[in-house]
Amino acid sequence: MTKMSLFAISHFFALCFCLISIAAIAEQDSKLPEIQISSALPKDSEPTEVHVIGEVVIVLKTNQDYKWNITKNEITYSFAVWGNLIADWYAFEPRSDAGHETIFWSIRKEGVFHSFDNSKWELKAEWFRE
Ligand SMILES: *[C@@H]1O[C@H](CO)[C@@H](O)[C@H](O)[C@H]1NC(C)=O
Repeated sequence: MTKMSLFAISHFFALCFCLISIAAIAEQDSKLPEIQISSALPKDSEPTEVHVIGEVVIVLKTNQDYKWNITKNEITYSFAVWGNLIADWYAFEPRSDAGHETIFWSIRKEGVFHSFDNSKWELKAEWFRE
């Protein structure tokens, strides 16, 4: 191996390290969102118990909501129990959710819906039987 290629290799690794550092700084800079989970289950239906793994367990009655700020830039698993039904989803997924101000979740009889603007909703998890 020539002196020249060793020089090139060491510069290649230095460049890689530099790019990784920049990526890490960019990651830290991207603001982590606030999460809002609300229950839009039919009136008079039993409450739903929402488990956000590593964060909270909450009981939501129809029209109640719960908010918190994501503090870790990593996938946040959650599931809801409604009677004998369960739905599970990622309350926060860095790949698609990071950089957004707020992530809205709406728990409905059809399942759990996701929105970035509290108006356009997308079904992300359907109920299944335990
Ligand atoms: C989340 O953070 C924002 C900005 O710091 C703050 O205004 C908001 O009240 C926080 N939300 C909760 C539920 O703590």
